[in-house]
Amino acid sequence: MKIEDSIGLYGDIKLPDQAVDTPAFVILMDEVQHNLEKTIKAIGGVQRLIPHVKTHRAPWLVNYQIQHGVSAFKAATPREVEMVLDAGAPEVVWAYPTATPANIGRVMDAAKQHPHAKVVGLIDSAAGLAEWKNQLSRSPLLNVRLRVDLDPGMGRTGAPMSDAALELARSINEMERFDGWHLYDGHIKDPDRDIRIAKVAEIRDKVRGLVAAGLRETGCGDLIAGGSYSFELWPADEAARVSPGSWIFSSWEHQADLPHLGWQVGAYVLSSVVSAHDGTVTLDAGSKAISPDMPMPTRFVGGGVKIVAMKEEHSVVESHTLKVGDLVALVPRHACTTAYLYDKALVRTQSGEWQIRPQLGNER
Ligand SMILES: Cc1ncc(COP(=O)(O)O)c(C=O)c1O
Repeated sequence: MKIEDSIGLYGDIKLPDQAVDTPAFVILMDEVQHNLEKTIKAIGGVQRLIPHVKTHRAPWLVNYQIQHGVSAFKAATPREVEMVLDAGAPEVVWAYPTATPANIGRVMDAAKQHPHAKVVGLIDSAAGLAEWKNQLSRSPLLNVRLRVDLDPGMGRTGAPMSDAALELARSINEMERFDGWHLYDGHIKDPDRDIRIAKVAEIRDKVRGLVAAGLRETGCGDLIAGGSYSFELWPADEAARVSPGSWIFSSWEHQADLPHLGWQVGAYVLSSVVSAHDGTVTLDAGSKAISPDMPMPTRFVGGGVKIVAMKEEHSVVESHTLKVGDLVALVPRHACTTAYLYDKALVRTQSGEWQIRPQLGNER
């Protein structure tokens, strides 16, 4: 099977050897294994890795990582928390502070059904604290712990790194449920590693005093920090665990910005050429097949090929060589929001077989 050099070709990317409906989400397990090994090596041991499952949302990938020594995961939605616990993980951090009773209630229910697993919620507000307190007083589950979420300058969630955060830690400690701190510095995306190092160092300087004060008052100074652009820049004595997520499949973005980590493309969208015109071809993967959350020209790897247009079910790209019926492997710029569009994946196992495997798709 032939793919045009200029679209989606990273080395010898593996294409299915059987007829496949397109568009299809394809996962390559040799590459996932490679990425896991590189990620563990970058942080000095699997015990420091608490990977976010939002990227893949696949129960079998949780199992796979447990088999390779991962013992804790991060999740964003209640459905992801349920998936991680059902897959047998010993610990899940629900990295999504909220005060919404039904959402907290659903995670509490999952904790109740898995009494041997530790379930950790995040708090960044008095309202969130009050709701957790309320639900835990009615259902005092011993396996539920709470962390304070800190805003490292991203401006998304997290308490300011000040006395306000310490006050939340004190209150959680009074409930005897304080598990430490959480911080996601996903706003750091500079391709220049030295700039990333300097930005992470600034955050480390700010958080150090808070963690030390918390340790003095509560006896716990644990911090979970980092995403794929920063995890390797957090030293183990400051962030015991780090939480990248998109490393698992990597992406076009990582290939461009983080080459020193040596990750390989572990997932792509297989698409067919359905129509050819004068200098352009039309692919059967549009914005319902590849995430449209990036600027249009950068949504999937082009290697010089220009994306001319993207509609719901079609993309038009410049090409003089592709012809109707050709298959192309499109490497998304953002793997997480692309995987989410598929409730199953075509997986190339490490023994070279191709299997259809489930993932949550857009279940919340
Ligand atoms: C709270 C949190 N932690 C970890 C991650 C993983 O980061 P990355 O996608 O950079 O690997 C994310 C991603 O959005 C996140 O929101």
